[in-house]
Amino acid sequence: METQELNLNTVIENEPRYLIPEDTYDYDHPEVIHYTDYFMQEAAKLNVFVNINATIQAHRSLIAAQTMATAWYDFAKYVPSFITKAVAMTDDPERQHHLIQIAYDELGGQDKNFIHSNLFLEAIEKTSVPLIHISSSSSIKDVLNWLDKTLTETKTQSGIVGLLLSFEIIAEENIETLFNGLCYTDKCDEILSKTPFFKIHRADETEHIRHSVANFLRFCQTEKDRQDFKASFDMGVEYWQRFWDQIARLINLEVDAQKSA
Ligand SMILES: [Fe+2]
Repeated sequence: METQELNLNTVIENEPRYLIPEDTYDYDHPEVIHYTDYFMQEAAKLNVFVNINATIQAHRSLIAAQTMATAWYDFAKYVPSFITKAVAMTDDPERQHHLIQIAYDELGGQDKNFIHSNLFLEAIEKTSVPLIHISSSSSIKDVLNWLDKTLTETKTQSGIVGLLLSFEIIAEENIETLFNGLCYTDKCDEILSKTPFFKIHRADETEHIRHSVANFLRFCQTEKDRQDFKASFDMGVEYWQRFWDQIARLINLEVDAQKSA
């Protein structure tokens, strides 16, 4: 744990952080600023969080937190497989180099103590939220399979890059929604905020978004590239709508099941 804390401090002190050296599309580049804003606005049109926010408010409880934790853990384990599969579907080594970086980050970079799905388990352990067996036949895995199929059916290189930006574009809101769902009592707030999982994600999601917007600018330069990119991006945002709606449904089902038990 000591190494973990040391590395974490290094990460946070060296802001702004770049996954890899950036010689063109840094945070101040006008196109990075313009397109980050544009894609965030496009993603916001789907009101992805409307149902999950209402559900969290209505059912703040340990069972709701456990349901969210269980679904998120399934998702967290899937993330590196999804990104590496996307990278394997691309054909240019330079594009692969840029696209693989977020998967590498998710898997802890040079330090296995930073594998994000493991950091997540450590975080929920701190607030005593054990994973559960979801009793309904619905599952977050149905939604992950939908995303996997969407990726497999993506026919263009720009489409793959677009799907990967959509995966990151609402990451900041995703992390805060997860945080709210896990905070089943007031004291969870402080405990979870101090965990490496939340510290890292609150510090790093901005870079995942910038890096993915830079990939758009770097690899999608023709009108056709940008159309293919946007079509896949829209599918990816639809994924998030399905993901959060499914978690809201699972929380409602688990809360009802507990009441009638
Ligand atoms: Fe992560």
